[in-house]
Amino acid sequence: MEVYEKIEPLKLRLKELREMNMIVGFVPTMGALHNGHLSLLQKSKQENDISVVSIFVNPTQFNNPTDLAKYPRVLDKDLSFLRNAHCNIVFVPQVSEMYPQSDTRIFDFDYLDKILEGEFRPGHFNGVAQVVSKLFEIVKADNAYFGKKDFQQLAIIKELAKKYMPDLRTRIHGCETIREADGLAMSSRNLRLNAEQRESALKISQSLFKSKEMFEHDKSLAEIKHFVNEYISADPILRMEYFEILDADTLKSISENDFKTNIVACIAVYSGEIRLIDNITF
Ligand code: PAF
Repeated sequence: MEVYEKIEPLKLRLKELREMNMIVGFVPTMGALHNGHLSLLQKSKQENDISVVSIFVNPTQFNNPTDLAKYPRVLDKDLSFLRNAHCNIVFVPQVSEMYPQSDTRIFDFDYLDKILEGEFRPGHFNGVAQVVSKLFEIVKADNAYFGKKDFQQLAIIKELAKKYMPDLRTRIHGCETIREADGLAMSSRNLRLNAEQRESALKISQSLFKSKEMFEHDKSLAEIKHFVNEYISADPILRMEYFEILDADTLKSISENDFKTNIVACIAVYSGEIRLIDNITF
């Protein structure tokens, strides 16, 4: 496995590989790797000759400095995880390499970055767009893989490519959320949960599974929202930030009378001070 900390040598190496007609897959991450990331890497390995993983805790996408400071950083463990998974190339830049000057670019994704995460984490998606556009320009992959757990992020990245990077040749793929055996969506932030918070956090996926079941039994959107609100607020460790049922293609609200087939329910909940998100499609 080749490890690069600097942009230029990585670009040179990737140019060399492309000249040898190698198809390149890319999995951008912030490290603290788990089986969710592994599934992205496995998909990339199936569909490409060379798989590149980046590990970079991007400061510009954190609207909360404590969250940035406490974000898990376990680089040695991540590198051996990737070695075991037969990753070909890892990119682990320092902040000064990715941001030699502060990045003041402003992206506008219309309503897409104003709702859900965008509403509660101002500036978050601008930071995601800053780093992902830089990474896309560096790696110039044929395919890039993102988890559907960050459903809105995936929509924003697709829009980033369409609106701001029309010449991008990278195809963007969304991959299914990987869950723990009990249903909790895998997330690097799960590492920060203590035993009590971990137990309470399970109610997040449980509420989503139940909401899907209610939907399939023709319960109204209002009844489903009421149930999720009550279920989460009954646990004193949990605090819900939002639960929304939206059109999965557009992320626009749906009304009781919309008979859509592609619906997503998105949720953000604090378990103690750890903020977790999850979603389910109906
Ligand atoms: O989903 C993540 O881990 C991050 O938001 C990403 C896409 C690597 C950008 O920093």
